[in-house]
Amino acid sequence: MNEVNRRLALLAVFACACQGQRSDEPPVHLIRGPMFSQARFGAQAESSLFPDKRTMRPVPANTVAQGSLKDDDFLSRGKAADGSFAKGFPFEVTMETMKRGEERYDIYCTPCHGPTGAGDGMVAKRGFAGVANLHDERIRGLAEGELFNAVTNGVRLMPGYALQIAEKDRWAIVAYLRALQRSQNAKPTDSK
Ligand code: HEC
Repeated sequence: MNEVNRRLALLAVFACACQGQRSDEPPVHLIRGPMFSQARFGAQAESSLFPDKRTMRPVPANTVAQGSLKDDDFLSRGKAADGSFAKGFPFEVTMETMKRGEERYDIYCTPCHGPTGAGDGMVAKRGFAGVANLHDERIRGLAEGELFNAVTNGVRLMPGYALQIAEKDRWAIVAYLRALQRSQNAKPTDSK
Protein backbone atom coordinates (compact mmCIF):
# COMPACT_ATOMS: atom_id res chain seq x y z
CA MET A 1 0.00 0.00 0.00
CA ASN A 2 1.40 3.31 -0.94
CA GLU A 3 1.24 6.26 1.43
CA VAL A 4 -1.90 7.89 -0.14
CA ASN A 5 -3.87 4.62 -0.05
CA ARG A 6 -2.81 3.99 3.50
CA ARG A 7 -4.10 7.43 4.54
CA LEU A 8 -7.39 6.91 2.67
CA ALA A 9 -7.88 3.57 4.38
CA LEU A 10 -7.24 5.14 7.75
CA LEU A 11 -9.72 7.90 6.98
CA ALA A 12 -12.37 5.34 6.02
CA VAL A 13 -11.91 3.46 9.29
CA PHE A 14 -12.09 6.71 11.20
CA ALA A 15 -15.26 7.80 9.37
CA CYS A 16 -16.94 4.45 10.10
CA ALA A 17 -16.20 4.88 13.78
CA CYS A 18 -17.99 8.24 13.77
CA GLN A 19 -21.30 7.08 12.38
CA GLY A 20 -23.08 7.99 15.60
CA GLN A 21 -25.08 4.79 15.69
CA ARG A 22 -26.69 3.63 18.90
CA SER A 23 -25.02 0.79 20.71
CA ASP A 24 -26.07 -1.55 23.48
CA GLU A 25 -22.47 -2.00 24.54
CA PRO A 26 -21.41 -0.25 27.76
CA PRO A 27 -19.73 3.10 27.02
CA VAL A 28 -15.97 3.09 26.72
CA HIS A 29 -14.44 5.17 29.49
CA LEU A 30 -10.76 5.89 29.26
CA ILE A 31 -10.60 6.79 32.93
CA ARG A 32 -12.83 4.58 35.04
CA GLY A 33 -12.30 5.81 38.57
CA PRO A 34 -13.61 4.10 41.69
CA MET A 35 -16.39 6.71 42.00
CA PHE A 36 -17.75 5.63 38.66
CA SER A 37 -17.93 1.94 39.27
CA GLN A 38 -18.75 1.77 42.98
CA ALA A 39 -21.51 -0.53 44.23
CA ARG A 40 -24.76 1.25 44.94
CA PHE A 41 -28.50 0.74 45.32
CA GLY A 42 -31.07 2.35 43.05
CA ALA A 43 -33.37 4.77 44.85
CA GLN A 44 -36.41 2.48 45.17
CA ALA A 45 -34.49 -0.79 45.08
CA GLU A 46 -34.56 -3.41 47.81
CA SER A 47 -31.66 -3.10 50.22
CA SER A 48 -29.87 -6.04 51.80
CA LEU A 49 -28.33 -3.78 54.47
CA PHE A 50 -31.38 -3.00 56.59
CA PRO A 51 -33.98 -5.30 58.18
CA ASP A 52 -36.86 -3.32 56.62
CA LYS A 53 -35.15 -3.70 53.19
CA ARG A 54 -35.70 -0.07 52.32
CA THR A 55 -32.90 1.65 50.42
CA MET A 56 -34.29 5.11 51.03
CA ARG A 57 -33.93 5.59 54.77
CA PRO A 58 -36.44 7.40 56.97
CA VAL A 59 -35.21 10.59 58.62
CA PRO A 60 -33.84 9.77 62.10
CA ALA A 61 -36.09 11.02 64.91
CA ASN A 62 -35.39 14.48 66.36
CA THR A 63 -33.13 15.57 63.52
CA VAL A 64 -33.51 18.56 61.21
CA ALA A 65 -31.99 18.91 57.76
CA GLN A 66 -29.46 21.71 57.42
CA GLY A 67 -31.20 25.00 56.73
CA SER A 68 -34.60 23.61 57.72
CA LEU A 69 -34.63 24.56 61.39
CA LYS A 70 -37.68 26.75 61.94
CA ASP A 71 -36.90 28.36 65.27
CA ASP A 72 -38.24 31.83 64.46
CA ASP A 73 -42.00 31.82 65.05
CA PHE A 74 -42.54 35.18 63.38
CA LEU A 75 -40.58 34.32 60.23
CA SER A 76 -41.78 30.73 59.85
CA ARG A 77 -45.30 30.83 61.31
CA GLY A 78 -46.35 34.48 61.36
CA LYS A 79 -46.81 34.21 65.12
CA ALA A 80 -46.00 36.70 67.85
CA ALA A 81 -44.47 35.64 71.20
CA ASP A 82 -47.96 35.30 72.77
CA GLY A 83 -49.07 32.89 70.02
CA SER A 84 -51.35 35.38 68.24
CA PHE A 85 -50.81 36.28 64.57
CA ALA A 86 -48.11 38.91 64.34
CA LYS A 87 -48.54 42.36 62.83
CA GLY A 88 -45.91 43.71 60.45
CA PHE A 89 -43.04 41.86 58.79
CA PRO A 90 -40.15 39.81 60.20
CA PHE A 91 -37.66 41.68 57.99
CA GLU A 92 -37.46 45.09 56.37
CA VAL A 93 -39.66 45.41 53.28
CA THR A 94 -37.69 47.05 50.48
CA MET A 95 -38.52 47.89 46.90
CA GLU A 96 -36.79 44.65 45.96
CA THR A 97 -39.14 42.73 48.30
CA MET A 98 -42.16 44.38 46.67
CA LYS A 99 -40.96 43.53 43.16
CA ARG A 100 -40.30 39.95 44.14
CA GLY A 101 -43.74 39.81 45.80
CA GLU A 102 -45.43 41.18 42.69
CA GLU A 103 -43.73 38.61 40.49
CA ARG A 104 -44.58 35.70 42.84
CA TYR A 105 -48.14 36.94 43.32
CA ASP A 106 -48.61 37.08 39.55
CA ILE A 107 -47.40 33.51 39.24
CA TYR A 108 -49.12 31.84 42.17
CA CYS A 109 -52.13 33.93 43.17
CA THR A 110 -53.58 35.53 40.02
CA PRO A 111 -55.00 32.23 38.68
CA CYS A 112 -57.60 32.37 41.46
CA HIS A 113 -57.54 35.85 42.99
CA GLY A 114 -56.95 37.80 39.77
CA PRO A 115 -54.34 40.49 39.04
CA THR A 116 -55.83 43.01 41.50
CA GLY A 117 -56.91 40.46 44.13
CA ALA A 118 -60.62 40.90 43.45
CA GLY A 119 -61.19 37.13 43.32
CA ASP A 120 -61.77 37.13 39.56
CA GLY A 121 -58.87 34.98 38.31
CA MET A 122 -59.28 32.53 35.45
CA VAL A 123 -59.75 29.54 37.78
CA ALA A 124 -62.54 31.39 39.60
CA LYS A 125 -64.11 32.41 36.28
CA ARG A 126 -64.05 28.79 35.16
CA GLY A 127 -66.05 27.73 38.17
CA PHE A 128 -63.89 27.39 41.31
CA ALA A 129 -66.46 28.80 43.70
CA GLY A 130 -65.68 30.68 46.88
CA VAL A 131 -62.42 32.40 45.86
CA ALA A 132 -62.04 35.31 48.26
CA ASN A 133 -61.97 38.93 47.22
CA LEU A 134 -58.78 40.07 48.97
CA HIS A 135 -60.21 43.57 49.34
CA ASP A 136 -62.92 42.38 51.72
CA GLU A 137 -63.04 44.48 54.89
CA ARG A 138 -62.41 41.36 56.98
CA ILE A 139 -59.36 40.24 54.99
CA ARG A 140 -57.91 43.76 54.94
CA GLY A 141 -58.20 43.70 58.71
CA LEU A 142 -56.19 40.48 59.14
CA ALA A 143 -52.70 40.77 60.62
CA GLU A 144 -49.79 40.21 58.23
CA GLY A 145 -48.98 37.01 60.11
CA GLU A 146 -52.45 35.63 59.37
CA LEU A 147 -52.11 36.42 55.66
CA PHE A 148 -48.74 34.66 55.74
CA ASN A 149 -50.39 31.70 57.45
CA ALA A 150 -53.11 31.54 54.77
CA VAL A 151 -50.48 31.36 52.02
CA THR A 152 -48.36 28.87 53.99
CA ASN A 153 -50.99 26.40 55.23
CA GLY A 154 -54.04 27.29 53.19
CA VAL A 155 -57.38 28.20 54.70
CA ARG A 156 -60.64 26.29 54.26
CA LEU A 157 -61.06 25.99 50.44
CA MET A 158 -57.65 27.44 49.61
CA PRO A 159 -54.66 25.09 49.38
CA GLY A 160 -51.37 25.90 51.15
CA TYR A 161 -48.30 26.99 49.19
CA ALA A 162 -45.49 26.16 51.61
CA LEU A 163 -44.07 23.53 49.27
CA GLN A 164 -44.08 25.72 46.16
CA ILE A 165 -43.17 29.13 47.56
CA ALA A 166 -40.11 29.78 49.74
CA GLU A 167 -40.67 31.32 53.17
CA LYS A 168 -39.24 34.76 52.34
CA ASP A 169 -41.17 34.86 49.09
CA ARG A 170 -44.40 34.18 50.99
CA TRP A 171 -43.70 37.29 53.06
CA ALA A 172 -42.87 39.24 49.90
CA ILE A 173 -46.27 38.21 48.51
CA VAL A 174 -47.94 39.44 51.71
CA ALA A 175 -46.15 42.80 51.33
CA TYR A 176 -47.33 43.07 47.74
CA LEU A 177 -50.84 42.05 48.78
CA ARG A 178 -50.87 44.96 51.23
CA ALA A 179 -49.93 47.28 48.35
CA LEU A 180 -52.72 45.82 46.21
CA GLN A 181 -55.24 46.28 49.01
CA ARG A 182 -54.14 49.85 49.46
CA SER A 183 -54.30 50.54 45.73
CA GLN A 184 -57.94 49.50 45.61
CA ASN A 185 -58.93 51.34 48.76
CA ALA A 186 -56.87 54.49 48.47
CA LYS A 187 -57.84 57.65 50.28
CA PRO A 188 -57.06 61.14 48.95
CA THR A 189 -54.56 61.56 51.79
CA ASP A 190 -52.51 58.57 50.51
CA SER A 191 -51.09 60.70 47.70
CA LYS A 192 -49.48 63.14 50.13
C1 HEC B 1 -56.58 27.47 43.70
C2 HEC B 1 -57.13 28.79 43.91
C3 HEC B 1 -56.36 29.72 44.83
C4 HEC B 1 -55.06 30.15 44.71
C5 HEC B 1 -54.06 29.79 43.63
C6 HEC B 1 -54.84 31.05 45.79
N1 HEC B 1 -55.96 31.17 46.56
FE1 HEC B 1 -56.21 32.39 48.16
N2 HEC B 1 -58.07 31.69 48.40
C7 HEC B 1 -58.71 30.79 47.59
C8 HEC B 1 -60.03 30.51 48.11
C9 HEC B 1 -61.04 29.55 47.50
C10 HEC B 1 -60.17 31.29 49.28
C11 HEC B 1 -61.36 31.32 50.23
C12 HEC B 1 -61.10 30.29 51.31
C13 HEC B 1 -62.33 30.13 52.19
O1 HEC B 1 -62.69 31.08 52.86
O2 HEC B 1 -62.87 29.02 52.14
C14 HEC B 1 -58.92 32.02 49.43
C15 HEC B 1 -58.67 32.90 50.47
C16 HEC B 1 -57.53 33.65 50.60
C17 HEC B 1 -57.27 34.60 51.67
C18 HEC B 1 -58.20 34.91 52.82
C19 HEC B 1 -57.80 34.09 54.02
C20 HEC B 1 -58.78 34.19 55.17
O3 HEC B 1 -58.30 34.04 56.31
O4 HEC B 1 -59.98 34.34 54.95
C21 HEC B 1 -56.04 35.13 51.43
C22 HEC B 1 -55.33 36.18 52.26
C23 HEC B 1 -55.53 34.52 50.23
N3 HEC B 1 -56.45 33.61 49.75
C24 HEC B 1 -54.31 34.81 49.66
C25 HEC B 1 -53.77 34.13 48.60
C26 HEC B 1 -52.47 34.38 48.09
C27 HEC B 1 -51.52 35.46 48.60
C28 HEC B 1 -52.26 33.49 47.08
C29 HEC B 1 -51.00 33.27 46.27
C30 HEC B 1 -49.89 32.74 47.02
C31 HEC B 1 -53.46 32.70 46.95
N4 HEC B 1 -54.35 33.10 47.90
C32 HEC B 1 -53.63 31.70 46.02
C33 HEC B 1 -58.20 30.20 46.46
C34 HEC B 1 -56.91 30.37 46.00
